[in-house]
Amino acid sequence: MATELTAPVLPAPPLPLTTERLVLRTIVASDGAAIGAYCSDPEVTRYLPFPALDAEGLAGRMERLVAGTAPSVPGEILALAAVHDGVLVGDLMLRFTDRHGESDPPGIGELGWVFAPEHAGRGFATEAARALVDLAFTHYPLHRLMARLDPRNLASARLCERLGMRHEAHTREDYADRDGTWSDTAVYGLLRREWASA
Ligand SMILES: CC(C)(COP(=O)(O)OP(=O)(O)OC[C@H]1O[C@@H](n2cnc3c(N)ncnc32)[C@H](O)[C@@H]1OP(=O)(O)O)[C@@H](O)C(=O)NCCC(=O)NCCS
Repeated sequence: MATELTAPVLPAPPLPLTTERLVLRTIVASDGAAIGAYCSDPEVTRYLPFPALDAEGLAGRMERLVAGTAPSVPGEILALAAVHDGVLVGDLMLRFTDRHGESDPPGIGELGWVFAPEHAGRGFATEAARALVDLAFTHYPLHRLMARLDPRNLASARLCERLGMRHEAHTREDYADRDGTWSDTAVYGLLRREWASA
């Protein structure tokens, strides 16, 4: 009889996290108004894999974010709200992206972030992402964190660099953009040993 391989269920991360100016907590359904306010802005979603969200799109995104509390296997996410003085200023995501099966603990995580433009330029995204990177490497057995972005997304590229991520690759015209053109992708990476020695 074949033995069925199942991934170990990883414990939920210790949340909320507190940084100098932010609380990072899981996302709840009532965050929909705040998240919808910036995710319905085409300027904000210009380089995101989804268009400016209408009510239906927001409902789908909220369902995924609210469910993202305790990832264990590839494809699952941890989604966090970044809250400053009681106001949700942005959201972040860690997604396991290992290409092998689901029988091993995750080794690779992809980071993503979306912040409200009215709270930009104050270092909130950097502060929140640093805390998420630390959580990712302390709570999970990850070997590597990466981020993929449109190289024209300079604010996101600067954020990767502030996190100590290395610009590893620029792939050409590998992403079918919503406007019918092909976009390039920039890949940034951070290995556990680089994080540990920083
Ligand atoms: C990517 C994104 C989160 C970056 O936001 P941001 O406001 O530039 O990032 P931060 O909140 O970390 O702020 C950093 C800026 O504030 C400045 N700053 C001010 N006070 C600061 C502080 N205490 N600490 C760090 N930076 C500070 C920095 O100098 C930096 O400015 P610069 O990039 O002009 O040099 C934001 O542009 C966004 O949400 N974009 C839309 C969604 C998106 O494209 N997501 C990424 C998809 S891959």
